[in-house]
This record gives sequence, structure tokens and C-alpha cells, in this order.
Amino acid sequence: MATKLDASLLLFAISIVMSLSLSTHCETAANENLIAKTCNLTKFLAVCRSTLRSDPRSSSANLTGLTRIAMELAGNKANDTAGVAFKRMNNASDYMTWAESSACFNGYNISMYGIKEKGLRYFDERKYDEAYQTVDFLEEQTRHCSRFGRAEFAKKNSVLLRFTIDVKTILHQLF
Ligand SMILES: *[C@@H]1O[C@H](CO)[C@@H](O)[C@H](O)[C@H]1NC(C)=O
Ligand SMILES: *[C@@H]1O[C@H](CO)[C@@H](O)[C@H](O)[C@H]1NC(C)=O
Ligand SMILES: *[C@@H]1O[C@H](CO)[C@@H](O)[C@H](O)[C@H]1NC(C)=O
Ligand SMILES: *[C@@H]1O[C@H](CO)[C@@H](O)[C@H](O)[C@H]1NC(C)=O
Ligand SMILES: *[C@@H]1O[C@H](CO)[C@@H](O)[C@H](O)[C@H]1NC(C)=O
Repeated sequence: MATKLDASLLLFAISIVMSLSLSTHCETAANENLIAKTCNLTKFLAVCRSTLRSDPRSSSANLTGLTRIAMELAGNKANDTAGVAFKRMNNASDYMTWAESSACFNGYNISMYGIKEKGLRYFDERKYDEAYQTVDFLEEQTRHCSRFGRAEFAKKNSVLLRFTIDVKTILHQLF
């Protein structure tokens, strides 16, 4: 009797665990599709996918949520790049290095605040067109910094530029 009860309890437990893992699996798979579908519209698929996947919140967001996450990630990347520019600016041994790094730093710093403080608020108010402008400004600043052709920013600038262009495409679906 006891063994029979244990066995049925065990089966019951197993079925719960299985259905739980199955539903999480389905949810993750559905979002993997949402990420794939969303990034499929963009120009730089690989950067789009890997950046969105790097945020754990992406795995349970809907399209609006995913778009907001994408905007936040663009702001974070701008902040990272601002950090690199700030270090370079403070460590410059000649005027040109200082002036160019300083221009890059200011562009990234202003863009980052624009996205984080204004852009996300516009987004939440569903003013997607205004939110888009703050990401567009970051793209402009990234292009400006890239024009100096500084090796120390090249890699970050290139990823940031690609991702920013993708975020604009993703945002554009909402309006
Ligand atoms: C991505 O787009 C291609 C066509 O450009 C299409 O064949 C494919 O099914 C799309 N994939 C997803 C996940 O939407
Ligand atoms: C999408 O997710 C957000 C939370 O991130 C929620 O507020 C909103 O209602 C959801 N939209 C739909 C259409 O389910
Ligand atoms: C920007 O990055 C720095 C670290 O470099 C961090 O301390 C700061 O909180 C970040 N700012 C924003 C607004 O995310
Ligand atoms: C400071 O600048 C020099 C080149 O002028 C470079 O070799 C060095 O790595 C830089 N240091 C930091 C911390 O960026
Ligand atoms: C970065 O930008 C913000 C907002 O425009 C500004 O308040 C802050 O002083 C800037 N940071 C630096 C170090 O210039």
C-alpha cells in the first residue's frame, strides 16, 4: 500500500515537474521566435540577436517590452562607450586626442541621458516617434565619433552603430 502511494506520488511529482519545464521551454522557444522575428527585420541580424539575448528580460517580454529593452540596451552601450572615451580623454597626451575623445565623450554622454531620461519616458507615453528621435541622435553622435577614425573606439563604435540602426528599425514597427 505504502509503496503504491509512494509510486503514485512520485508519478504525480514527475508530471508536475515535466509540465512546468515544458511550459518554460515553450515560453523560451516562443520568445526565441519573437527575437528572431524582430531581428529578422533589421539590417544587422547577428548584433541584434546577440544583444537582445544578452538581457535575461528578453526571454519573457512581448514585442513592446522587447522594443523598450532594445532602447535601454542602446543607452547602456552608449554609456559603455562614453566610459572608454572619458578614459581616453583624461589620458590624452596631445591636443587632437583630447579634443576628439572629448567630442566623442560628450556626444555619447548626452545621447545616453537623452535615451534614458527622455526617450524611455516618451516610450512609456507611447510617443514612439519622439522616442525614436533620441535613438536617432545617438546614431548621429556615433557616426560623428567614427569619423575621427580612432582605433581605440573602432570596435565599440561599430557595434554601437549597428545596434542603434537596428533599434530604430524595431521601434519603427510601433508607429
Ligand atoms: C526571416 O526572413 C526570411 C525571409 O527574408 C524568412 O524566410 C524567414 O522565415 C524569417 N524568419 C523568421 C524567424 O521570421
Ligand atoms: C506587454 O508587456 C507589458 C509589460 O512589459 C504590458 O504592460 C503590456 O500590457 C503587454 N502588452 C500586451 C499587448 O500584452
Ligand atoms: C554609466 O556607467 C557608469 C559606469 O561606467 C555607471 O556608474 C553609471 O551608473 C552609468 N549610468 C547610467 C545612467 O546608466
Ligand atoms: C594612456 O595612453 C597611452 C597612449 O598615449 C596608452 O598606451 C595607455 O594604454 C593609456 N592608458 C589608459 C589607462 O588608457
Ligand atoms: C553628462 O550629461 C549630463 C546631462 O546632459 C550632464 O548633466 C553631465 O554633467 C555630463 N557629464 C559630464 C561628466 O560631463
